[in-house]
Amino acid sequence: MKIISNVNELKTYLKKEKKIIGFVPTMGALHDGHLSLIKTARKECELLVVSIFVNPTQFLAGEDLDKYPSRDDADKKICKLAGVDVVFLPQRSDIYGDDEVSLNAPNVRGFVLEGATRPGHFDGVLTVVNKLFNIVNPDNAYFGKKDAQQLNLISLMVKQLFLDVNIVAVDTVRESDGLALSSRNIYLSKEERKEALKISRSLYMASKMVQKKVYDTHEIKKVMSEILEPLEVGYIEILNREFEVLDNIEIGNTIVLVEALVGTTRLLDNIWL
Ligand code: PAF
Repeated sequence: MKIISNVNELKTYLKKEKKIIGFVPTMGALHDGHLSLIKTARKECELLVVSIFVNPTQFLAGEDLDKYPSRDDADKKICKLAGVDVVFLPQRSDIYGDDEVSLNAPNVRGFVLEGATRPGHFDGVLTVVNKLFNIVNPDNAYFGKKDAQQLNLISLMVKQLFLDVNIVAVDTVRESDGLALSSRNIYLSKEERKEALKISRSLYMASKMVQKKVYDTHEIKKVMSEILEPLEVGYIEILNREFEVLDNIEIGNTIVLVEALVGTTRLLDNIWL
């Protein structure tokens, strides 16, 4: 496995190889959710690149960028065991200059849900993913369905900027009791972890109601919010794949999303119906 920090060195190496490139961008602190992206990419591509870069522009003022867990050595071992070919590990100065051309998230999809509480967050995500795509020039890039809004906006960016990369959406990985894997789970106490299960339970209930042919999204949201009590709910939304609000479930085209505060940890989860 190669570890490359320099942009030009990586570009030159990848061009020379002339292989089908799979790309998994990460901010490190890899867990089984990332591993699932890596394993999926490994199966589908000839040359697998994983980037580890804690992107400063997607953190807002007051969000503790410096406290973001950094586990480069453990991450490199995980990548090696998973058969990654290249780990791209740039410094901030490799990616960003002083006076930057900017890329902004679209007004509607970029400033609802996560974008409403973290305005500007998706500008930073799109900017860095666009830069990374330009460096790696992947055939396929892999993103988790758990960050549904990020996935949606990156897919939109690829379409609108005519980028030549295929975005692959990978299913959310869960603990055996249903909790979706997230780097934030480490902040949960034992009690909070139990409370956090209300989030996946509310989503399973939505799915059950749909199986029983309840399609009215307002009715579903009401039952979900009862299950989520007494958590402080940021949002429960039922949207189509274009991120438009639905009054009625469209089978095969619906995402149910929840954000809730458990203790001091904001958790996200969703289910695709
Ligand atoms: O999902 C993440 O870890 C980040 O938002 C990403 C896509 C690596 C961009 O920094």
